[in-house]
Amino acid sequence: MTRTQIPALRRWGDYDRDNPYPLFAEVLEQGPVHEVTLTDGHRAFLVMGYDAAREALNHPGLSKDMEAALDAEGAVVAEGLPGRDFARHMLSVDPPDHTRLRRLATPSFTRTRLAPLEARIVETTGALLDDLEAREGPVDLVAGFALPLPFSVIGELLGVERREQERLAGWFATLMTPYPGAVPPDEAVVASGSIVDCLGDLVDRRLARPTDDLVGDLARAAKAGTITRKELMSSLFQLVVAGHHTTTSLIGNGVAALLQHPEQWETLAADPALVPQAIEELLRYDAPVPHSTFRYATSNVTIAGTEIPAGVQVVVNLATAGRDPARHDDPHELDVTRPSVDHMAFGHGIHHCLGARLARLEARIAFTALLARFPHLRLAVDHRDLRWDHGDGLVLRGLSELPVHLA
Ligand code: HEM
Repeated sequence: MTRTQIPALRRWGDYDRDNPYPLFAEVLEQGPVHEVTLTDGHRAFLVMGYDAAREALNHPGLSKDMEAALDAEGAVVAEGLPGRDFARHMLSVDPPDHTRLRRLATPSFTRTRLAPLEARIVETTGALLDDLEAREGPVDLVAGFALPLPFSVIGELLGVERREQERLAGWFATLMTPYPGAVPPDEAVVASGSIVDCLGDLVDRRLARPTDDLVGDLARAAKAGTITRKELMSSLFQLVVAGHHTTTSLIGNGVAALLQHPEQWETLAADPALVPQAIEELLRYDAPVPHSTFRYATSNVTIAGTEIPAGVQVVVNLATAGRDPARHDDPHELDVTRPSVDHMAFGHGIHHCLGARLARLEARIAFTALLARFPHLRLAVDHRDLRWDHGDGLVLRGLSELPVHLA
C-alpha cells in the first residue's frame, strides 16, 4: 500500500470543503488506495481515481449491506440515512435482494414512463423561475430553484399531492439536516414518524385503488409478498433521498461552476444545443452527490494491487474518477465543449444510478430554461464567498446558498 505523509488522511473528510480538489489530486498522485481514519475515528480504505474506483464498484467482495456493516464491530456506514428503519432498499443490500428490489422499481425509470413527467418538469421550472423573476434584487438559486425543482419531481414520480409535497419536504429537511446536532433528537423522531405515516398513506391508497406507477408497482409487490413492508418503506424513503439533494447539487454546483467561468456560460447561452454535453462535463468536473460512496469489505479483497482486510469500510471517491489525469486531458479545466466526457458521478456496476435518466432530463430542462431566460445571470457574491457547506463534505457536497443577479 502507498504510504503517504499527508496529514488529512488521519481525519479524512475534515478538509477544505470549498475546494477539496487540490488535496484529492495530491493524494491520487501518491497512489490509488490509502488507509485513512475517518472523522468519526473509524478505520477505512480510500480508493481514488478512475480505474481503481471502477474496480472497487465492480468487486463482489465489497458489499453495500448496511445492516451487516452496522452489526460489524467498529464499522458504521454513514450514508446520511437515519438508521435501520429505512435500511432495506436496493442501495443498501447485495444480490439477490438487490436484484429483486431494483427490478421492481426499474419500469418507472424507462423512457416511456418518464415521458409524461417531462411536461410537468417544464411547467414547474417555468413557475419557479417566474417566482424568482418577480423578486427584487439578488435571489438564492438553491432555495428558489435547485432544491424545490427536484423535490417536486420526485413528489410527482411518487404521486404525492402538491400540498403534501411541502410538508414532506419540511420533514426531510429536518431529518437530513447537513449540520450534525442541529436538530434535537425528538424533532428528528417526529419527522421520521411523519414520513412513515405519509408514505404509508400513499401505499394504502394505491392498495385500495391500484395504479400503474412506481408506488402502485411496489404496493402490488407488497401485497403479493415479493417485498416486505420494511423494504417498501425503505425503498420509497431512499428514492426521495436519492432523488432530490443529488439533482439539487448538480444544478447548484453546475450553475456556480459556469458562473465562475463566465466564458463557459456565454458559450452555452450562444449554443444551447451543447447543454446535454455540458451536463456531463459538469458531472465530471464537480461530481455532485455523492462525492464519495461507501462499501464494506466482507472478505479480504485486493484493489489496484493493495490488500484491503475483511471488516473495514471502503470509501470510493467518485470525484477523483472524473478528474483523473490518467483518463482526462486537463482534468481540472471546465470545458463545456469537451467532446467525450467520462465520469463516475452516477456510480458504476450493479448499483449504477437508477435515476440517471431522470436526473439528466431535469438538468437539461433546468439549464436550458435558465440560459434562455437569464443569459446574463451572474454571481451576486464574490466566488470566494460561496460555501459548499451543504452535506458532510465526504458523501454529500453542495452549496447551501447560491446568490445570483438574474439580469
Ligand atoms: C444510485 C448519483 C439522481 C435514484 C446512485 C449512485 C450514485 C448516484 C453515484 C450509486 C451509489 C453507490 O454505488 O453507492 C446520482 C446523482 C444524481 C442522482 C449524481 C443527480 C445528479 C437520482 C435520481 C433518482 C436516483 C433523480 C431517482 C429519483 C437512485 C437509486 C439508486 C441510485 C434508486 C440505487 C441504485 C441501486 O442500488 O441499484 N445515484 N443520482 N438518483 N440513485 Fe442516483
